[in-house]
Order: sequence, then structure tokens, then C-alpha cells
Amino acid sequence: MSEAEGAKNRLFLGIDLGTSHTAVMSNRGKKFLLKSVVGYPKDVIGLKLLGRPYVVGDEAFEMRSYLDLRYPLQDGVLSEISDRDLEVARHLLTHVVKTAEPGPNDEICAVIGVPARASGANKALLLKMAQEVVHTALVVSEPFMVGYGLDKLVNTIIIDIGAGTTDLCALKGTVPSPEDQVTLTKAGNYVDERLQNAILERHPELQMNLNVACAVKEQFSFVGTPSGPATFEFRAAGKPVSCDVTEPVKVACESLMPDIIESIEILLRSFQPEYQNTVLKNIVFAGGGSRIRGLAGYIKDHLRSFGDAEVTCVKDPTLDGCRGALRLAEELPPQYWRQLGDVAGA
Ligand SMILES: Nc1ncnc2c1ncn2[C@@H]1O[C@H](COP(=O)(O)OP(=O)(O)OP(=O)(O)O)[C@@H](O)[C@H]1O
Ligand SMILES: [Mg+2]
Repeated sequence: MSEAEGAKNRLFLGIDLGTSHTAVMSNRGKKFLLKSVVGYPKDVIGLKLLGRPYVVGDEAFEMRSYLDLRYPLQDGVLSEISDRDLEVARHLLTHVVKTAEPGPNDEICAVIGVPARASGANKALLLKMAQEVVHTALVVSEPFMVGYGLDKLVNTIIIDIGAGTTDLCALKGTVPSPEDQVTLTKAGNYVDERLQNAILERHPELQMNLNVACAVKEQFSFVGTPSGPATFEFRAAGKPVSCDVTEPVKVACESLMPDIIESIEILLRSFQPEYQNTVLKNIVFAGGGSRIRGLAGYIKDHLRSFGDAEVTCVKDPTLDGCRGALRLAEELPPQYWRQLGDVAGA
């Protein structure tokens, strides 16, 4: 195929491959979000009920009672313990590409976001797999792709609080180097664990699991001063019981803050002194965790000794990552992708 014909048939995909959710946008207007999970029948009855060897995404989660659920990403990176784990990731990625409805002659070019400090080995593994399902793949760091989408590529710090990792990136007008990025393994899943323990400490009689803790968190999450009491209906011995969860929610959500603040301080100091005041006014939170109430004010207060900070949260934490990845894919031709990160197929 000639270069011109190839360009005509290019399907660009922006993929935010997350621990809990994968968000995708294409240059033909497709956008979708799915749980990053693959379900396999537990036995022959499950296979009969399902009628196929596996199912991907929210559908799998809904059928979880008779499926083995596998999450291919842990702490934001591919689990690489066994071939089985890699197969799970392959099934997820194949499903994502199929859902984007490529035509038979399309050249599929995907930009995939991963945690800021994902190891070289892990990126290579992801690229190897991506190459089986797309023609060209570029792996970039999650916060960088958010920054690209928001047109904030200079004098900015982006913090993406996901499920598995919190990723920070200092944007200095160049492709971020490893020193400009931090990945913390405390994020949404860690808050769920902390919250489950904090609630059980106070109310050992409650039937708790991580799904319940996550639901409590997503309904009431806050840091700093609560806007009012948070009451949740749990189950104890099969009966409904209402409990005040204000304090456990505060403790669990605030458990993320010290590491985030420390990492912001480190990244802030890495800018030239004349830019630091501007950077302080360009601190942006993204990812599902940016929905924590009071987050921007809390961070601003805790950075007071550095000056008057301006902290904001993105408008659309679900899709801003893949929107940025798609924009990058469309604006920068694949022949330049090698300058941006790890590439397969170009
Ligand atoms: N209102 C809310 N308050 C606090 N946390 C929330 C809220 N809504 C969603 N979350 C949490 O955000 C996390 C999911 O965010 P996101 O979709 O950005 O993660 P991910 O991209 O799948 O993970 P990662 O980037 O770590 O691979 C989950 O832990 C979810 O519970
Ligand atoms: Mg994410």
C-alpha cells in the first residue's frame, strides 16, 4: 500500500488502559469505556451458560457468579506471572480493537497510556501484545497524555489518581524524562482497603468486602472538612444496618495525600526557579480519584508555604486520558512516534 493510501485508511485509537477501566476513543467518533476484566467459565455449565470461551468488560463483571474474573493489569501494569496472564491481556486488547470496528483495509495506529514509571520490560511486553492486534502502537505515560489533551505541555504538574497507581508528571515542554515522572502504588484500590479496615474496626459485625468499601468511597469520598454526615446502609447478619462512615472515609481518602504532596514538592523543585511560581498555578488532577471532594482545596492549603497555588481537577476524568491519547495520535504522524516513547510497528 502506498503512503497516501495508507494515510487514508488509518484508524487512530487513543487507549487509556487502566487497572479498573479501559477508555477508548477513535478518530471516527467511537468512544467507549469498559471494565478492564475478562471472565472465563468456571466449568462446563458456565461454558454452556456463556456460549463462548470468554467474555470481556462489564458483561463479564455482571456474570461474575459463574465466571473466573481476571484483571490483566495490577497496579497499572501487566501482570506477567504466567502465559495465562498474558493471554488475559491479549483477550482484553483484542476486544477493545474489535469494538472500535476497524475496516478490513484499515491501518490501526494506537496510542496507549500506561503508568508514568512502568518498567521497560513491562512496556515491551505490552507493545509485543499490541503488535498482534494493531499495526502501530505507541506507549506513553498516562499523565503526559492527559496534559497533551488539555494543551498543558509546559510549566504544569499533572496528577492522575487511578485505581492501581497515582501518576505524577512534570511537563516542561519536552517529552517527559523518567526524572520528571513519579508513580505511587497508593491509589483508589488502596483507599478501598484502608476504608474496609477502618469500617470493620468500628463495626466488626458488618458484612464487608472491597466492592462495598469502594461503593462507600465513591458515594462519600472527601478530604478536609466534611460537607455533612455520611451514612451508609450495610448488612449485618443478613439485615440492613445504617452506620455513620464520615471519619473512616476521611481517614482512608486522606491516606493518599502525604505521598502526593511530597511528590508534587519534588517535581516543583525540579523546574527552574523562575518558572516555579507559574507551575504552582498549573497543578491539575485527573483520573477517577480526582473526584474526591475537597481535593483541590486540600492540596492548595498544604502547598501554602510554596506560595499561592492554583489546583484544578479535569472536567471529564473518565475520558480525558484517552481523548489526549487520540489527539496525540492524530496530530503527530506515526513516523515521529519513536521520539515520544516506546513504539512497535512504525
Ligand atoms: N467519586 C469518587 N471518589 C473517589 N474515588 C473515585 C470516585 N469515583 C471513582 N473513583 C475511583 O477512581 C478509581 C478509578 O479511576 P480510573 O478509572 O482513573 O482508574 P484506572 O485508570 O482504571 O486505574 P490506573 O490508572 O491506576 O491503571 C477507582 O479506584 C474508583 O473507585
Ligand atoms: Mg488510569
